[in-house]
This record gives sequence, C-alpha cells and structure tokens, in this order.
Amino acid sequence: MQKIPATFFVNGDRYDLMIDTHALLLEVLRDDLGFKGVHESCGEGDCGACTVLVDGVAVLSCLTLAAAVRGKEIVTIEGLAKGSDLDPIQNAFVKHGAIQCGYCTPGMVMAAKNLLNENPHPSREEIKKGLAGNLCRCTGYNKIIEAVSDVAKGGK
Ligand code: FES
Ligand code: FES
Repeated sequence: MQKIPATFFVNGDRYDLMIDTHALLLEVLRDDLGFKGVHESCGEGDCGACTVLVDGVAVLSCLTLAAAVRGKEIVTIEGLAKGSDLDPIQNAFVKHGAIQCGYCTPGMVMAAKNLLNENPHPSREEIKKGLAGNLCRCTGYNKIIEAVSDVAKGGK
C-alpha cells in the first residue's frame, strides 16, 4: 500500500508520520498514535462511538480518511480533561450516572461537545436531536440527556 507523509495536531500536540493513503482516521488515532479512547464499534457510521472533533466539528473517524484531515486540529476524549480537571461534560456524565459500560461514552461526550459548541443552551429536544447519531445500549439515554442539559444550564 502506498504511504504518504502526514502531520496531525491531536489534543494540542503535533505528530508527523507516514500513513497509508487509505488509512482511516480511526486507525491512525488508535493504532498509530495510541488514542484508545476513540472507540470502534460498527465501523460503518451507525453508532457514533468513534466520534472526534476535527477543527471543532464532530466527525465519525471510522468514515474519515486520515489523508483528508492532514494538518487539521483533532480533539479526542483524551484531550478534554486538563490534568485531573475533567471537562464539565465529563463531570456531568459522572454526576448523573450517564455512564454504564462506558463504550459509547467517549463518542457521546465528543458529540455533546460539538452540540454545546454550536448551541450552548439547547432544549431537551435539541439535545436528543444533537446526539441522535450516537447509540447507547445501556443507559436509556435519559441520564445522558440530563447530563448535557445540566451543562447547558451552567451546572458542574
Ligand atoms: S464505529 Fe464509527 S460510527 Fe460506529
Ligand atoms: S454506557 Fe454502555 S453503550 Fe452507553
């Protein structure tokens, strides 16, 4: 497979590496750079587990060619906490018990981040719509919606 040089800025750090032309962003983040918080589940764009931010916008890394996002700013779940200080969305997920098995959680939190960046004070319906692409088999969604709603209202 043909390799090409690539630079990525992930969670504020620069990475220069050679990637396969057909490598997915998910593969580069997990396998080449070690960001295992980017979860793979369906691999087909149906579940949202692999969601990351690229230049501030949520993308499904299982459907994104790494070559297409060379030079861009990527944020994964590992980039949200500052030391032991969790992001307000992470704190709210913990507070509301919005995490059970945790498999969906990184993608769900990144999707919530995207939603709150676009609309800092979403209604419950807007939260549901904003997170509709992210599936959770465990929580029944209510606790996740409550957590995001809490952040939108300024709760910690
Ligand atoms: S693993 Fe990417 S959407 Fe399911
Ligand atoms: S907490 Fe298990 S899939 Fe969401």
